[in-house]
Amino acid sequence: MADPARSEFARRRTQLMRLMGASSIAIVPAAPVRQRNNDVEYDYRQDSDFYYLSGFPEPESVLVLIPGREAAQYVLFVRERDSEREIWDGKRAGPAGATSGYGAEDAFPIADIDEILPGLLEGRERVFYTMGLNPEFDQRVIGWVKRLRSQARSGMHAPQEFVSLNHLLHDMRLFKSRAELALMRRCSQIGADAHVRAMRFCRPGRMEFEVMAELLHEFRRHGADTSYHPIVGSGANCCVLHYHANDARMNSGDLLLVDAGCEYGYYASDITRTYPVSGRFSPEQRAVYEVVLEAQRAAIARVKPGNHWNEPHDAAVRVIAAGLKSIGLLKGALPALIRAGSYKRFFMHRTGHWLGMDVHDVGDYKIEDEWRVLEPGMVLTVEPGIYIPAGSARVPRRFWNIGVRIEDDVVVTRGGCEVLTDGAPKDPDEIEALMAAA
Ligand code: GLY
Ligand code: MN
Ligand code: MN
Repeated sequence: MADPARSEFARRRTQLMRLMGASSIAIVPAAPVRQRNNDVEYDYRQDSDFYYLSGFPEPESVLVLIPGREAAQYVLFVRERDSEREIWDGKRAGPAGATSGYGAEDAFPIADIDEILPGLLEGRERVFYTMGLNPEFDQRVIGWVKRLRSQARSGMHAPQEFVSLNHLLHDMRLFKSRAELALMRRCSQIGADAHVRAMRFCRPGRMEFEVMAELLHEFRRHGADTSYHPIVGSGANCCVLHYHANDARMNSGDLLLVDAGCEYGYYASDITRTYPVSGRFSPEQRAVYEVVLEAQRAAIARVKPGNHWNEPHDAAVRVIAAGLKSIGLLKGALPALIRAGSYKRFFMHRTGHWLGMDVHDVGDYKIEDEWRVLEPGMVLTVEPGIYIPAGSARVPRRFWNIGVRIEDDVVVTRGGCEVLTDGAPKDPDEIEALMAAA
């Protein structure tokens, strides 16, 4: 699998250390192993921050950055080699592998961390560490600092300040490098191909989970995995925003909403397409679909440097409110409908989020209470929708159970933006043609 080069991980550490400043130390633990049931574990997935700085995939590891320290600025604590355990679980890097393979300037067995870490904290003023994610590890960090404090009389100097690492690190992660964008392009392409495969497969009588199986097949055969549990909802399930049962039979006349993306090389795609189970939109389905598509296109057109975070959303709201009015689902003057938020009855979520190593990726949306200005290298989703559940008051029955979302992944470029996921068709005629040919 394509990893960013080792030099890129080193560049990230250097940049972070520069931002942290002298007299500081950063501590980043690996993701914990999580138990699924009895003695079965969830598939291990490294913590995004930890991976971003190290490229090191193993659990039970801790990364420490100590800017300006002469002996070693980058220290890893890792599991020791263990020929007995490696027969069962596979190879471990061990401290020697952590230095030779991952660029650590020094590496120690994780079992020795209680002995060594207080010494690394000694003489540092600020500890960059994100509290609250891993309560067990929080206690250990506090324990190390306390131990140093208790030795103040013998001349030990304990750090005075705890600072969350999120602010600095997550701002770095918000801007994707060339290597990261290459991975995200690949990840988006695999995701888009999976949606095409699902469209070809979809027909009345088949089950939603069979569509999910097609998506998973396409992800897996390219070395990718899901980036979140896929939403495959037909009929009434189109209107359940986080539907995940995926166990209904698909009926002719219904829509199918598929929100599915993959993770490839630690980067996520997040794509939604909506299409008719039978392969042909009804007039009402098409009318709603075209409003959402126009809203999505209007929002994408607002993704460019200099525009602020909320401009795509504002554009989508204008088109959706106008569209709902022209279809007859909202009544009144358009500016008043927008001001009052009447459209929220049918479009109740935001138009997107940052995307990267995490599906809902890190990074601030506002700076000092102002929407963030878009800059090249930021990646976001654009995903307006309209949902009309059965029983909606003052809505003709023929519109019931129409739920449409269209979601693409978009990178801000110098001249505007690049849509990463346009391998999956969204033009309704194109979708109908593709399904007819299947
Ligand atoms: N799939 C999650 C989202 O669209 O935000
Ligand atoms: Mn999304
Ligand atoms: Mn999604």
